[in-house]
Amino acid sequence: MLGARGGWQALRRCSSLPRAVRLRVREALGARQPVDEVKVQGWVRSVRSQKEVLFLHINDGSSLESLQVVADPSLENRDLTFGSAVEVQGKLVKSPHKRQNMELKAESIRVVGPCDTWSFPLKMKERHPLEYVRQFPHLRCRNNTLGSLLRIRSEATAAIHSFFQDNGYVHIHTPIITSNDCEGAGELFHIETSNEARESAEKTHFFNVPAFLTVSGQLHLEVMAGAFTHVFTFGPTFRAENSQSRRHLAEFYMVEAELSFIESLQDVVQVMEDLLKTATSTVLSKCPHDVELFHKYIRPAQKDRLEQMLKNKFVTISYNEAVEILKQASQTFTFKPEWGCDLQTEHEKYLVKHCGDVPVFVINYPYDLKPFYMRDNEDGPQHTVAAVDLLVPGIGELCGGSLREERLPFLKSRLQRLGLADAYQWYLDLRKFGSVPHGGFGMGFERYLQYILGVDNIKDVIPFPRFSHSCLL
Ligand code: 4AD
Ligand code: MG
Repeated sequence: MLGARGGWQALRRCSSLPRAVRLRVREALGARQPVDEVKVQGWVRSVRSQKEVLFLHINDGSSLESLQVVADPSLENRDLTFGSAVEVQGKLVKSPHKRQNMELKAESIRVVGPCDTWSFPLKMKERHPLEYVRQFPHLRCRNNTLGSLLRIRSEATAAIHSFFQDNGYVHIHTPIITSNDCEGAGELFHIETSNEARESAEKTHFFNVPAFLTVSGQLHLEVMAGAFTHVFTFGPTFRAENSQSRRHLAEFYMVEAELSFIESLQDVVQVMEDLLKTATSTVLSKCPHDVELFHKYIRPAQKDRLEQMLKNKFVTISYNEAVEILKQASQTFTFKPEWGCDLQTEHEKYLVKHCGDVPVFVINYPYDLKPFYMRDNEDGPQHTVAAVDLLVPGIGELCGGSLREERLPFLKSRLQRLGLADAYQWYLDLRKFGSVPHGGFGMGFERYLQYILGVDNIKDVIPFPRFSHSCLL
């Protein structure tokens, strides 16, 4: 977010100069005193021409609120329309209106870039639905809702980084191109070279081994947790799975953490809960107006849900209990709940409702359902692993994590059964050289934004809705 300090330093530096001080809209709105010569640049959000006075609203993306410009009608010109880019110079003065602090009395208005309002798909003063603006991936950031979303996304990214840095985690850039399939679910994008290079690549892979876009940085983080104890990564992640759903993307951002020397799954669960609460309260306090827009117009009940979430301890149930709850439900599910079957979104949403519409940790899933790296609980007859999923209202699964199998014999025999022991020799090595109990989790960043803002479709929380509507930005 824009540093108000930077602007005011600039203001002080320039105050002795005759040149106008350039202010961002957010700085102008937050000014405590009038300033004689200022310059504000941005895009026109409204034009209202009266006999004696011309009103404009200018927005430059630094805040949801636009700056009111008051000008003499003689400054009006044909190109000064909704959507045009302008530079306004004048005096920043206290506004006589209660709803705004400052306004700009214009002395000059220069249209930097005109806008053809007839063909411009956004219209003045209209609250365009998310489905409508999704059709214009290159222009939708000029709309209030997407503007707020992208400022929140930026603030949430910073809040997540701060949470980990403040708690002693080392940030690791894990590879995007990798040869491991961490989740083993086969949802991989295979990387190939193009054109002329392809012919030779068919004989030998470019990297000498098949290469994929990463589905998770977890295995790389496990390497680093073996030296730094607490590590995290937050980067692009790719899955070749159903991108038509409202909660799946082919390219998304995942926050992942790995912790060494832990005693139980509870240690991982606690970090998940702390992360969610800390990041959310930071976002709520840093972007109150942007968040309010979502809570007012997109999902009114979401504000109360978040307050409940921040106040209360999350609920924990076992997978066994979850299946029992589902079996006793009066609701009929499309997928019949059975022990050993994965929980579907309909099940996850029911469990959240059943537990009081608060986030719910489901722990200890069937051994056969989960990837090779999860720690065997050595129980029976219903064999489970120390896995955890965090389910949240309106979304279902937000985070997935587990204790990792740190015992060499267990891991080796599981990998051998899967025919993966050779490929994962390096991973087995980690269990030979100073192996410690460890665990971690991953949180889908877009699903997190959907959850806190109450957005139904995951495509509405990304900057560019890629590969939709034939628009390859
Ligand atoms: O549950 P997942 O598959 O867990 C892992 O990848 C672990 N290796 C993470 C770890 O322990 N370090 O994915 C984690 C989260 C999911 O809970 C979900 O929120 C999100 O990533 N996610 C997706 N988000 C958007 N689109 C998709 N296609 C997603 N697939 C997973
Ligand atoms: Mg999962």
